[in-house]
Amino acid sequence: MYRSIARLYDLLDLPFERGRYAPIRPVMFAGLSGRLLDAGVGTGRNMAFYPPNAQVTGVDLSPAMLSRAVARREQLGVEVELLERDICDTRLPEGHFDAAVATFLFCVLDDSLQLPALKELSRIVRPGGEIRILEYQYSARPWKRFVMHLWAPWVRMAYGATFDRNTEQYLPEAGLEIVEERFLFQDIIKLIVARAPG
Ligand SMILES: C[S@@+](CC[C@H](N)C(=O)[O-])C[C@H]1O[C@@H](n2cnc3c(N)ncnc32)[C@H](O)[C@@H]1O
Repeated sequence: MYRSIARLYDLLDLPFERGRYAPIRPVMFAGLSGRLLDAGVGTGRNMAFYPPNAQVTGVDLSPAMLSRAVARREQLGVEVELLERDICDTRLPEGHFDAAVATFLFCVLDDSLQLPALKELSRIVRPGGEIRILEYQYSARPWKRFVMHLWAPWVRMAYGATFDRNTEQYLPEAGLEIVEERFLFQDIIKLIVARAPG
């Protein structure tokens, strides 16, 4: 899916990037340092917000998305290691990262992959390190919820994403505790901060 959409991804996402995501992305990396993982790096939309002294690794399953990320890395002059990896099995060392950030990754992961992906993040982030996840969820407001349901088939077809992954429910089984949950855009885009007990 991402092989075919990669060329158009930034264009399709532009209205949302400008209207919603651009103010949120810096929050995802605020205060982080050391070795950081950008899980499901995509075309590298987070790159402009990497903390200056961090050593960032971006992983993604899609070579087509990664090649866009390579171009963005060069354009922005950002230092980031980019690897083609499955987030459920990164083959990276245990406890390697000080923190991990995943923006709009879990909404594209099938329900059956939520737990394996969280377990892998829990494995490769050091004990006590933060795992920050940014995800959509259906609004509690009836009108907004209705509109989101109208959008849902397109979002599923274009991005393989859904608004009802409910990633939090898998955190305890992955051995992660929720540190913080708050909405960053209306009541539909949520930051989940989790941590493996130190
Ligand atoms: C909706 S995009 C988000 C990209 C980027 N994080 C952003 O905020 O714009 C989801 C990304 O997750 C990647 N992805 C999907 N399944 C994956 C997996 N199992 N392992 C790693 N990346 C995956 C896709 O290739 C795609 O680039």
